[in-house]
Amino acid sequence: MFVCLCKAVSDKAIKQNIASGACTMRDLKTNLGVGSQCGKCVSQASAILHNELVKQ
Ligand code: FES
Repeated sequence: MFVCLCKAVSDKAIKQNIASGACTMRDLKTNLGVGSQCGKCVSQASAILHNELVKQ
């Protein structure tokens, strides 16, 4: 499922990036471009980030 349509970034890609060390929204923006255009994906991407960090 795409989370960020502007950059065509899926939830899977976000989870993989977090597993590779991303731990902030800034990391996800830098690495994948999430939230760098319209910003509509930020709340969902942030929720995924927090869920994944809790698991680590
Ligand atoms: Fe992610 Fe627009 S959907 S920046």
